[in-house]
Amino acid sequence: MSGRENALVIRRLTRLEPPQLEALVEYGRSALGESALDAWLLPVIAGHGRLYVAEVGGANEGGAGGEIVGAAEVIRCFEEGDLYLEGIYIRPEFQRQGHGSELLKGVMELLAAEGYSRLLATVDPENGAGLGLYEKAGFTGNGHQLDYYGPGRHRLMLAVHLASP
Ligand SMILES: CC(C)(COP(=O)(O)OP(=O)(O)OC[C@H]1O[C@@H](n2cnc3c(N)ncnc32)[C@H](O)[C@@H]1OP(=O)(O)O)[C@@H](O)C(=O)NCCC(=O)NCCS
Repeated sequence: MSGRENALVIRRLTRLEPPQLEALVEYGRSALGESALDAWLLPVIAGHGRLYVAEVGGANEGGAGGEIVGAAEVIRCFEEGDLYLEGIYIRPEFQRQGHGSELLKGVMELLAAEGYSRLLATVDPENGAGLGLYEKAGFTGNGHQLDYYGPGRHRLMLAVHLASP
């Protein structure tokens, strides 16, 4: 495989055709289980928020047409014009190869280029992979919210300032 085929390409999707929607629901569940976005929310994020996919193995111009290995979903908050990272994942079989960091860094750069200055997120305090991913990208903790997603589902609130390009 050439270096180009190995490269991670980040693409924004604005409309999801049925097979792509079905695939994204399945990929999300494989990484995030019941907390993954479903077929009722993914098209909303694509159309009105920001839905990014990370692809590898694209042979076309710009690398498009490769296999989707992960995704990130972003919405805009009413307060302060902040953004909120609803979710980010890499499919289990593609994890621990640097794709998560590359996707998150690339998404942060794209959002900074659009003029946004702060990205919020939450993470399960026991999710070591998620914590490592966010820490590496410069996120800092902003307190815990107990039972945020129901009994025992605590979240650590996080935020990062997006660097101007
Ligand atoms: C979190 C996730 C996106 C990381 O993706 P990835 O491609 O495996 O991550 P990377 O290879 O880029 O690693 C980035 C950092 O994350 C941390 N990390 C990733 N996997 C880890 C693991 N299994 N255990 C501990 N730390 C881990 C490390 O700090 C790593 O940096 P390092 O390689 O310098 O040690 C992936 O594990 C995933 O999809 N998990 C399920 C969904 C999830 O928890 N999403 C985040 C919260 S919404």
